[in-house]
Amino acid sequence: MLIFNPDSDPALASQLVRLLDAQAGILEQRRFPDGESYLRVHSDCADQDCVILCNLFHPDERTLRLLFLADTLRDCGARSVGLVTPYLAYMRQDKRFQPGECVSSRPFARLLSGAFDYLVTVDPHLHRYDSLDEIYSIPSRVVQAAPLIAQWIQSHIPNPLLIGPDSESEQWVSHVAELADAPFQVLQKERRGDYDVSVSLPDLGSAAERTPVLVDDIISSGRTMLETIKHLQAAGLPRAVAIGVHGIFAGEAYSQLTEVADVVTTACIPHLSNQIDIAAPIAAAVQQLLTVTARS
Ligand code: R5P
Repeated sequence: MLIFNPDSDPALASQLVRLLDAQAGILEQRRFPDGESYLRVHSDCADQDCVILCNLFHPDERTLRLLFLADTLRDCGARSVGLVTPYLAYMRQDKRFQPGECVSSRPFARLLSGAFDYLVTVDPHLHRYDSLDEIYSIPSRVVQAAPLIAQWIQSHIPNPLLIGPDSESEQWVSHVAELADAPFQVLQKERRGDYDVSVSLPDLGSAAERTPVLVDDIISSGRTMLETIKHLQAAGLPRAVAIGVHGIFAGEAYSQLTEVADVVTTACIPHLSNQIDIAAPIAAAVQQLLTVTARS
């Protein structure tokens, strides 16, 4: 097996190479003076199972080159070409809210489904879709971060109160709470714009002595977490811990959050807040999909 990593997540790439007993694929990439991409595969991929680890945060900068690479691997005789993207982009626009809006999750899914044999990701934002199969036509495996987050909470936070900032987070926070054997609450959120968010007041009751641990799948502008933390501070709770599966941290989000909370993320998106490793379940999912796709 060959693992290509066009977007430089060397830590996860080398973990996957080791866990899958694979080799690191060798690529040459650069930009032409006009901004177009040059790509050359130096590894011999004839009859090889190839995996591309390409983390699709900031997807517009990465997707075209990813598609070129998948196409080139096939052209050079790869037996299979799989995609590992711990963060799967464009899942949040899953509905036409305003007339004429692009429901970008669907064309993006069609693009990737046309280029790959299978897909592995971690906790995609499944809100109005029940599963990736609704929009992706290739086999996929979803790695769940909940057991890893629960383990981290159990070994770092003695007396936690888990908080999901909105109804969409319930699927993660309830699962984590069950595994960590901790109480949880889910709040209501209203988003009026990218940076304009309000979150309902938590009902703290006898939980006021506990450490609030916010759990959400994505931290982007940070507004969802910041608004929730404001309420917790006003209620006099101890400093919060904000856990995100995917820490995108647009603009000043990370520095604003670290002023008011301890911020922890999984290693889905490389960042200094990464404390929760995801390599082993990703490797297991790749292995399973290779077996499934080899049979069919
Ligand atoms: C959406 O519902 C997600 O689960 C997150 O709550 C949201 O993406 C967080 O975005 P932001 O950090 O921009 O508030």
